[in-house]
Amino acid sequence: MTRARRGPVAGAALLAAASLAWGCATSQPRSVLDAAGPAARRLEDLGWPVLVGFLVTSAVMWLLLVWVARRRTGSLAEHAPIEARGGGRWLLVGGLAIPAIAFAEAYFATVYTMGTFPMGHEPEGPAQIRVVGRQWWWEVHYRIGGLTERFVTANEIHVPAGRPIDVELESRDVIHSFWVPRLHGKVDLIPGLVNRIRIQADRPGTYEGACAEFCGPQHARMRFVVIADSPEDFRRWLEHQREPAPAPATAAALRGRRLFEGAACATCHTVRGTDAKGTVGPDLTHLASRRTIAGASLTRDVATLHAWVANAQSLKPGARMPNVTQFTGGELGDVVTFLEGLE
Ligand code: CUA
Repeated sequence: MTRARRGPVAGAALLAAASLAWGCATSQPRSVLDAAGPAARRLEDLGWPVLVGFLVTSAVMWLLLVWVARRRTGSLAEHAPIEARGGGRWLLVGGLAIPAIAFAEAYFATVYTMGTFPMGHEPEGPAQIRVVGRQWWWEVHYRIGGLTERFVTANEIHVPAGRPIDVELESRDVIHSFWVPRLHGKVDLIPGLVNRIRIQADRPGTYEGACAEFCGPQHARMRFVVIADSPEDFRRWLEHQREPAPAPATAAALRGRRLFEGAACATCHTVRGTDAKGTVGPDLTHLASRRTIAGASLTRDVATLHAWVANAQSLKPGARMPNVTQFTGGELGDVVTFLEGLE
């Protein structure tokens, strides 16, 4: 390929890639350009003009490159005398003025948007939810109602749709970052510091989130979801979560519960209403009301629960959940039956 042809081909490839990224961005479940609440919308209002400006600038740059590559340059013999100061206007306008204006606009728009966060934080008492970052999952404390109505869950954060919810963010170990692209920008969870954000989902739905700050080898498996329920569904969910774990419904589940209480499980996990009161791992009181396990990295079902209990280290190497190998096959089945009954 000659030099003159390389420019247009590369330019076309870049534009194709950019438009592909653009197309994908609007249909992905975790796109910042598909806001589902007020906080994310402010970021989207900043993101779209910057993205369009970048694409237009890139297109103009590539057109200029194509023009330079393809224009007739002539031979030395027929070349006009060299102008010592030729092209000065190009440098001043294209090299200084236009970039200065573009960067200044992006800078001041960003500073303005940053100034509008945190949103609406008149002191209104404690936040309704506190999220604690753990390696590598999310501990979620609900503080709605009186002291006896509070509970802890993990990785799946229910909120009422259409209502602002204040969330406090802190960490128990290293720095994590709470990011639900369709609801809010990234905010760090820092040991010893409590950050506060306000999230709101306009419509019921499931909004995917992930840890957005490298926090160790399983950072990529530190996911979560925000589930926006209708206000009635949310109230029902709250009331259900406040109850202790349901009593085992079958003999197998009862055997499983006894095994769970007698094994190391109970020193790390809490199941309210049983002897299990550990706080190292997630609260499992209503595990079966959640769709996922292991930092929302695995679907919760009988197969993944078996695999997770017996061999967590192969699924999430380095996690604090050890391989629990003391159970026979039948006992493992009973423990999973107990866990699956924790509706
Ligand atoms: Cu937590 Cu990355």
